[in-house]
Amino acid sequence: MSKKVIGLPGDGIGPEVYAQAVRVLKQLDEQFNLNIDLHEHQIGGAAIDLHGNPLPQETIDACRDADAILLGAIGGPKWEGLQGADRPEAGLLKIRKTFNLYANLRPVSLQESLSELSPLKKDRLVGVDMLIVRELTGGLYFGKKFREGDSATDTCTYSVSEIERITRLAFSIAKGRRNKVSSVDKANVMETSRLWRETVNRIHTQEFPEVDLEHVLVDACAMHLISKPSAFDVILTENLFGDILSDEASMLSGSLGVLPSASLSKQDPSQGIALYEPIHGSAPDIAGQGIANPAAMLLSVAMMLRHSLQHEESAALLEKAVFDSWNAGVFTADLSNENSVGSKAFTDSVLSNISRSV
Ligand SMILES: NC(=O)c1ccc[n+]([C@@H]2O[C@H](COP(=O)([O-])OP(=O)(O)OC[C@H]3O[C@@H](n4cnc5c(N)ncnc54)[C@H](O)[C@@H]3O)[C@@H](O)[C@H]2O)c1
Repeated sequence: MSKKVIGLPGDGIGPEVYAQAVRVLKQLDEQFNLNIDLHEHQIGGAAIDLHGNPLPQETIDACRDADAILLGAIGGPKWEGLQGADRPEAGLLKIRKTFNLYANLRPVSLQESLSELSPLKKDRLVGVDMLIVRELTGGLYFGKKFREGDSATDTCTYSVSEIERITRLAFSIAKGRRNKVSSVDKANVMETSRLWRETVNRIHTQEFPEVDLEHVLVDACAMHLISKPSAFDVILTENLFGDILSDEASMLSGSLGVLPSASLSKQDPSQGIALYEPIHGSAPDIAGQGIANPAAMLLSVAMMLRHSLQHEESAALLEKAVFDSWNAGVFTADLSNENSVGSKAFTDSVLSNISRSV
């Protein structure tokens, strides 16, 4: 049976890295008979230009019976004057809410060949291998926002059931890793964080007592990510904290351009729709130059092959092909100033590593 994948290239460097993902997906499809049925639709600024809406109904309808969604990135200066639900970013928030994509998984590990390129000292980076589990459909991003006179308000709301489902997912994943969860909150100040901590403690005691649990305040976590990053295994946190901490953690690996992510609607991704995207944005400062690092996008494809298409062999081969390109000294400009290559040449190297290994 074919696997339906909806591609949403988006804006800025989104379509540039997405185009490289399609090249790789086509080659893997041929080599492994994956039977992928790929269709492209619009989201973000591109959708505003074409349909006057950052998430048109036809994109929603196309995604409804998909096995997976592959997204580039959205946003950019062209649409900066737009407000609220008219902004490109609103398309991304809406697709997460529409398909209940509540769990955003962001793996952060360090490839030896990138360790010299990280702004952190090499000895601090030994053993870095963490997974940030970010709650994606609640908190400040989805609370009521309003202006009154000269003040502005954003509301942060979490329910027990929203915290429970992301907590269960984080503990389940930790059992297959190094068995440790660091739950990050701001319980000394925020009521939602106090509910978060109570709920995490209850699920831990009742359902996952064998997993090590620590609670870390978000400010301390920001510091420990730099001072002792290898101490983390699974970081469980809410929407805003997860957004900020994962951009910080990306610097451990050398660049925002190397980190993939998966957003799941079900604990078992093969049972529900999931969306795969690089953690970076549309990078307007480098868009149109053909120099964006496609690695985060290609590693997002690998996550899609593994989790939604349940094809471990092609996923592992793709990851190895990306790492082998770095091992051979093939770097885009975000990772190296010397002899850097563009998005297409980097992907050429990945494609040749894939064909060589078969
Ligand atoms: N999921 C998404 O689509 C998403 C996420 C974050 C930001 N955005 C949007 O992207 C736009 C730009 O935001 P920003 O500049 O704060 O964040 P950004 O992630 O787009 O860029 C931050 C910096 O990282 C660099 N960078 C990012 N990805 C790169 C890659 N693959 N290769 C090389 N360099 C890369 C950029 O050149 C820039 O200097 C905004 O409109 C924002 O709303 C979208």
